[in-house]
Amino acid sequence: MAESTADYTNPALPAERRATDLLARLTLEEKFSLCAGQGLWKTKAVPRLGLKPFMLTDGPRGVGFHSSGKRCTAFPSGIAQAASWDEALLRRFGAALGQECRAVGGGTILGPAINICRTPLNGRTFEYLSEDPYLNSRLVVPIVHGVQEQGIAACVKHFAANNQETDRVRISSEVSERALQEIYLPAFRAAVEEGDAWSVMSAYNKVNGVPASASADLLRRRLRDEWGFRGFVVSDWFAPRFAGGTESCVKGGLSLEMPGKGSIYKTGKVREAYHNGLITERDVDANLHGLLTAMALTGHLDPVRSRAVRNTAEHQQLAREMAEAGMTLLKNDNAVLPLRPTDLRKVAVLGPALKKRYCLPLYGGSAGVWSPYEVTARKGLEGENRGRFEFVKEARDADVVLFFAGLSHRPGQDSEVRDRASLSLPGRQDEMIRAAARQNPNTVVVLYGGSPVAMPWLDEVRAVLLCWYPGMEGGAAVARTLFGDNNPCGKLPVTFPRSLADSPAHASPRSYPGDKRTVHYDEELFVGYRHFDKRDIEPLFPFGHGLSYTRFDYDNLVLEQDALDAADTLVATLELCNSGECAGAEVVQLYIADLDAPEDRPVQALKGFAKHTLAAGERVTVRLEVAVSDLRVFSPEAGNWELLPGRYELRVGSSLRDIRLRAPFGLRATANPDDDSSNDNNATTREAS
Ligand code: BGC
Repeated sequence: MAESTADYTNPALPAERRATDLLARLTLEEKFSLCAGQGLWKTKAVPRLGLKPFMLTDGPRGVGFHSSGKRCTAFPSGIAQAASWDEALLRRFGAALGQECRAVGGGTILGPAINICRTPLNGRTFEYLSEDPYLNSRLVVPIVHGVQEQGIAACVKHFAANNQETDRVRISSEVSERALQEIYLPAFRAAVEEGDAWSVMSAYNKVNGVPASASADLLRRRLRDEWGFRGFVVSDWFAPRFAGGTESCVKGGLSLEMPGKGSIYKTGKVREAYHNGLITERDVDANLHGLLTAMALTGHLDPVRSRAVRNTAEHQQLAREMAEAGMTLLKNDNAVLPLRPTDLRKVAVLGPALKKRYCLPLYGGSAGVWSPYEVTARKGLEGENRGRFEFVKEARDADVVLFFAGLSHRPGQDSEVRDRASLSLPGRQDEMIRAAARQNPNTVVVLYGGSPVAMPWLDEVRAVLLCWYPGMEGGAAVARTLFGDNNPCGKLPVTFPRSLADSPAHASPRSYPGDKRTVHYDEELFVGYRHFDKRDIEPLFPFGHGLSYTRFDYDNLVLEQDALDAADTLVATLELCNSGECAGAEVVQLYIADLDAPEDRPVQALKGFAKHTLAAGERVTVRLEVAVSDLRVFSPEAGNWELLPGRYELRVGSSLRDIRLRAPFGLRATANPDDDSSNDNNATTREAS
């Protein structure tokens, strides 16, 4: 029985103190037993102290049926969430996700998934957010906040450098310290430092030869000592089997091996390692303290835990709102979209994605969510039509053709465990699109999928609407977008390359899929658009691209200051005007270009954005701020962050390649604000302008 007066049961006390109290009451054997789970989704109980099993559920786009046995709201997948560039919306999403997790009895949701989209072939690109560390960081924080304000631990995954599925449990990602610092770690760091994430999942792969689940460098030094992580590290499912021994994982900082009974964290094995003097009780305590802290933070140690709801009309409405916010209009010649019944009455609806369902158990892997219902594209078109259009089957009989194409979650497409083999759409879809376009030049491709695809037919079709994996209300969102009841405002969170060879990770077999179980991140910092910029490659669609049914004009860019010091904040204002015919939202993107960038540094990078919804004719002043300290770069020589003084340019636009306004500014050579005076590492080599 729980001791009701014990500190660990007292919700009024700080979580860490409750964890310390509980830890002090556990016997050594009980501590050993808590290192691994019981069954697939729970930790073990300690009945003597009233400690119940603590449940973890998948995953990043809704609570998975496989982990809860319950149907739950299926939200759009990670990359669709990211295409909204909408922090406030994602906070609401996090809250809904947290509620649903709570409603099934969970304490931790295994998401968000925030690995960088390094190769477009990664089978899990659809789950992840972006190729850009800044966007990734800005979007993960509100999701974590939303989840955790519901008393559920967000578990950011997969830590770290887990950027492909091919060979995922054996491969070592060979990545430089600079690329880790600037590209692969920032979102994890933001999730911990700004989001206070209560849980992190260690990845299957090795990082520079050390298994991520046994890496003291990742799990202890960076996560806890440098970033101040106070929660628990759970292994990816079965990962410790590939991670060496009990000793290395305990010393490495892994709190919990999942699933139970564990392999290297079997109670007997931890006991043995202890008795052999390989690990100490302090080592175990250091790992378990975070798990018990998360239990306290989530109300798991409270006498009564409040209930929550799932599958509510509000959550389903939110799923639709998110799907609409992610709709990304890639091309729209002759303004064929939205469909206007006055001009286009007969609509041919074709293609394999028309009736397809995507919200099914384990469909795509652990991110699969089985929702109580799903609005397919066909159902959405019928439901939202309200007599405006006549649907026909033949392209040649129609005023316009809607061709529903795309990827699915079948193995080898957008799915866990295996990467895609190429950028092509599966089956005969390319031919079918071409055939439709030959019969009717007014062909619109409505594309499902969660990663970049090749579009050999792009010049032959009028428009392309990318709807990603839009979740259980997806069909309604798609129809509303096609009919103009929703104005698309999604922006690409990844570059769409013209060919695989243009993609940075695909320079050689050693850089992807890897050579002798080692994948060399030879492209260094040149991931995603950084590579396309540097090599001057024209992508199929650039990062940040996404059209609207209305037009946005940008003018009057003003910088408050044009010569700044390390402690300053760059403040820019501009006028944004909706000069078109209908209301719409625009994501104003701010890139900073280093005009003196050395060869080994990217030309420009996203450093800010602001999303504004404007009525037709409306004009707003947009204010964007960038702390100069955020322009620091990681110096491999100094092993530290430093500012490079010199000439810079602020660029504002509607995408990376649609820059509308520019303003020069200079950074003066001064000490970094965070560095103490004893540190000479911030000595700079460039002259300030
Ligand atoms: C995935 C994780 C997931 C876990 C539990 C693993 O295969 O990599 O993302 O949370 O399974 O389903």
